[in-house]
Amino acid sequence: MDRIRLRADLLSWYDAHARALPWRAPPGGGGRSDPYAVWLSEVMLQQTTVPHATPYFLKFRDRWPTVSDLAAADDGDLMAAWAGLGYYARARNLLKCARAVAADHGGVFPDTEGALRALPGIGAYTAAAVAAIAFDRAANVVDGNVERVMARLFAIETPLPAAKPTLTALAAGLIAEDRPGDWAQALMDLGATVCKPKAPLCGLCPVADQC
Ligand code: ADE
Repeated sequence: MDRIRLRADLLSWYDAHARALPWRAPPGGGGRSDPYAVWLSEVMLQQTTVPHATPYFLKFRDRWPTVSDLAAADDGDLMAAWAGLGYYARARNLLKCARAVAADHGGVFPDTEGALRALPGIGAYTAAAVAAIAFDRAANVVDGNVERVMARLFAIETPLPAAKPTLTALAAGLIAEDRPGDWAQALMDLGATVCKPKAPLCGLCPVADQC
């Protein structure tokens, strides 16, 4: 595995094929995404797909344009707006986190993985995703898509969940200081649109020759 070539090939593919998503800065932006938008989208996307989450994201952003607006939301209004996304514990954690950002950080999200992780209602995955995507920090963002891409790239046959630590370490080995936010999103987009669970489109894959 030539790590340098793999990274270059996947980032070039992302430059050309990144999905245009309402919370996402275009490739090469170096972390200009709104942290609130990134955080909100990541929490929603932990339980559903981009097509299902997108209308909810737009509705939330219209109704509560900043994290301080969300912090001031009525609990019942937020729960009602969340209906259809499932798993209400996430909505309650969303409010907890927004209120902590508003009360303890002046409505400004902290910009490191460690400080994000210390907020109430934010888990390891979300802290890494916001650090990478909103602040271009070299955080290891590993969701189900990234696990599947790593398992295929490195031919790991151990099933999940036993393979988790191995897959996480393999993903960490591909992180670099160059464009970490784009890297995280490139892996996610590859997993969602090309390296799909059932019928992967290897003919369209920018790294098929290294897989
Ligand atoms: N799935 C979860 N987070 C995502 C993101 N930031 N971009 C694309 N797909 C995702």
